Amino acid sequence: MKHAVWDNLAKNYEENVLSLTKIPQRRKQILNELKKGKILNMGCGPTDYLNKALVNTGNSVVATDISQKMLNSAKNLFEHENINYILCDSKNLLFKDNHFDSIISVNSIIPEKRKDVFLMFEEIHRVLKKGGRCVAFSPSYDSAEKAAKDFGMNIKLDDKEYRMFDTGHWQCFHTDKTLEDALLKSGFEKHKIKKVFLKTNEEFAQIKKLYGVDTTKHPIHEYFLVAEK
Ligand SMILES: C[S@@+](CC[C@H](N)C(=O)[O-])C[C@H]1O[C@@H](n2cnc3c(N)ncnc32)[C@H](O)[C@@H]1O
Repeated sequence: MKHAVWDNLAKNYEENVLSLTKIPQRRKQILNELKKGKILNMGCGPTDYLNKALVNTGNSVVATDISQKMLNSAKNLFEHENINYILCDSKNLLFKDNHFDSIISVNSIIPEKRKDVFLMFEEIHRVLKKGGRCVAFSPSYDSAEKAAKDFGMNIKLDDKEYRMFDTGHWQCFHTDKTLEDALLKSGFEKHKIKKVFLKTNEEFAQIKKLYGVDTTKHPIHEYFLVAEK
């Protein structure tokens, strides 16, 4: 498992990574689109914001991550009888077919190789119940490209594979086309993908703190997708 990079980030996560799960409006967007019931928070990371919101709205939650350190940190912050933390690679989900009502990914479908994006969506499709939903925020390659231009940021980009070199390794980012392609190939015919501009005050402040740029005039965006099996 390639988890060392993520292990290293677990400790001072919020000082180094912008987590949309921290932003109430983003959590609300996710909760509004979910099918309630058994939920998988895939690549949950080390914080408790989303896990708490999911449990507190009556769901039974499994939170997975490839990094044991991420899981330990999340578990230390929030334990409850309705949440289980499981070490699991999203390319090989340890669950039976048709198991979850919803699967959430917040910026966790970001493997090094594009073929692994497909594997992850195939696994999501397999373990979702019929009528179940995948709800995800995913980082935008086009926004990263624009930010490099608008803000003169020194970002390393791979324009053939739509990848960005971030937090110490290459990560596949997304466009509406790469997402649509992955969704269709993995069997999700019913889906919507939209741009969500990060323009809450908290997002502007976090981006300024983490990357040193003021995005208030040119907000960056992520993709928000909802796909139904
Ligand atoms: C950018 S962080 C996002 C974490 C959290 N969802 C959030 O929004 O704060 C990416 C997370 O995905 C996890 N991850 C990366 N590759 C993974 C994989 N193949 N399987 C499971 N988790 C993975 C990392 O360990 C990390 O916790």
